[in-house]
Amino acid sequence: MSFPQLIGYSVLTLTVWKLLQRWASRKANTINVAGPEKEHWWKGNLESMFVDGFQRCLEVAADYGGAVKIHALFGEEWLYVSDPRALHHILVKEPHIFEESDSFISCNKLIFGDGLISTLGEQHRKQRKMLSPVFSTSNMRELLPIIQTVSYELKSILVSNLPTHNSVELDVLPWLSRSSLDCVCEGVLGYHSAALDIRNEDEYTDALRMIGPSITKTLLFRPLVPIVTRIFSLYWRKKIVDWLTISWLPTQAMRDFRELRRIIEIMDSGSRAILQEKKAALESPSAILSQTHDTPGGTRAKDMMSIMLRANASSSEPDRLSDTELLGQMNVMIFAGLETTTAAVARALYMLAKHPHIQEQLRAEICDAMAEVPDVHSHAKDESESTRLSYDALTNLPLLDAVVRETFRLYPSLPVLSRKTTEATSFPLQFPVRSAYGEEINTVPVAKKQKLIISIIAANHNQAIWGEDASEWKPSRWLDSSQGDENAVRYPGVYSSMMTFLAGNRSCIGFKFAEMEIKDVLATLLPDIRFALPSAPDNNGNVKEIYWKMGGFHIPVVKAPAGDGQTPQLPLSMQLIRE
Ligand code: HEM
Repeated sequence: MSFPQLIGYSVLTLTVWKLLQRWASRKANTINVAGPEKEHWWKGNLESMFVDGFQRCLEVAADYGGAVKIHALFGEEWLYVSDPRALHHILVKEPHIFEESDSFISCNKLIFGDGLISTLGEQHRKQRKMLSPVFSTSNMRELLPIIQTVSYELKSILVSNLPTHNSVELDVLPWLSRSSLDCVCEGVLGYHSAALDIRNEDEYTDALRMIGPSITKTLLFRPLVPIVTRIFSLYWRKKIVDWLTISWLPTQAMRDFRELRRIIEIMDSGSRAILQEKKAALESPSAILSQTHDTPGGTRAKDMMSIMLRANASSSEPDRLSDTELLGQMNVMIFAGLETTTAAVARALYMLAKHPHIQEQLRAEICDAMAEVPDVHSHAKDESESTRLSYDALTNLPLLDAVVRETFRLYPSLPVLSRKTTEATSFPLQFPVRSAYGEEINTVPVAKKQKLIISIIAANHNQAIWGEDASEWKPSRWLDSSQGDENAVRYPGVYSSMMTFLAGNRSCIGFKFAEMEIKDVLATLLPDIRFALPSAPDNNGNVKEIYWKMGGFHIPVVKAPAGDGQTPQLPLSMQLIRE
């Protein structure tokens, strides 16, 4: 038997084993809450809910409430949860019982190393303790000039594509993705990625851009990783990966797997080099000096990594993170902060294009604030510096804040997440649901190893919390002072009582960074560019209609016949406002 065949048979055996395990756990766990009928004998309800199932995800919660039984693969049953008290219990009160799944943790460990999304328990707690202060408001304030430089470059590129008078249609998605990559590379790693410069060929930057899509293509392997890591030692795991990657099996899956391995190797060696450079800079004062002068504005040492390294060096031995853990954080931050933020900025621009009157009001608010910028910038090197808002001015613009909050609420970049129980338990409900037998219940018993889906979208669209217009994009709801009812039921989210950035000890550590970035991009682009939905017919007379496809992320595509309904793109009509 050849090695590729051996690997093929091993994978098959492991898969059958895994399915048997699932079947056994299905027998043991019967969920006592109501839910939709099974729609497919082996896919259950998964296809209708999680393959482009935005509306279906909302319907299921609206029909059955905040705790619903749904049918997963091969008869397995999952709990689909969006009730506020249940989410508080799961994410804030008892997170050690409702943990990330084995496959999530082991895959992340293999791909990123020992970063926040690959660790559990005490190690995760220690890492959060070290990293949380790094993302403080005062550090964001220091970081803003780095983000502003990137946003200004983005604007210059878009403006350079616009004629003086007419509007032009342009796919802005690749540019938003490149600018997010530059923000996270410059802001988090202190690495000058220059992704917005398309002539710049940088293997490391390309690898960072490709890591998310490449992981998505290999999700099929994910359930097998914990089994392989449990059975095989590190030596044999490496051998298996080598065989898989050198084998010439002509399947797409093998090609995707090989590509992922290539990307991980480049990401790992690039991040290692940056870490060594930063550690050397920290140890040598002359290196620090040269480092602070080699990027625009001399702001390089204010990046998150430099702050993290300084904090780590000055912390006590038991609290200190190892080099492996620091490296893991670098890889994780880029992954966690890239596509999430790109999707949010893209959605905000799209919503503003769809609501021109709100776009005009927001533009006026931003321009008024810029007119107030004190003359301290009269010595500024260029326009990018002379119109820069301070951190406080940027974050306190009421309409900008409302637009960003409403976009985060209605279209969370990560619509659903999963958890698995480590022991038999139960959780309380704010709003009672029907049991599988029809009576009203307000506590849901949960078996050990039960899989749960945390529905961020259902929580953020919950009419009981946000009102009957919960699914409308209405920034004014954040400007209405009557929102502040102290006794109102709220979600436990770290940001604005919504679940977009989750709650509890595994909530998003970078939400202030994401909020600052999206606000800065809008504040930089809007004074100079007017955005509208595409309206010009193509050669066949079809106008491009944008559709947001829900997978792991929400991705804009163009519907047929003007588009293929698959390729990620966001064509917007843009017009220059001033010369
Ligand atoms: C709109 C943008 C973003 C959204 C919607 C978002 C959302 C989330 C969510 C829902 C989680 C929880 C994931 C889970 O439990 O499986 C998370 C975790 C995380 N996010 Fe974000 N995120 C965004 C931007 C960022 C940025 C810019 C960074 C870093 C610069 C970042 C770093 C992280 C990290 C490190 C974690 C893991 C935290 C932990 O496990 O302790 N995120 N994010």
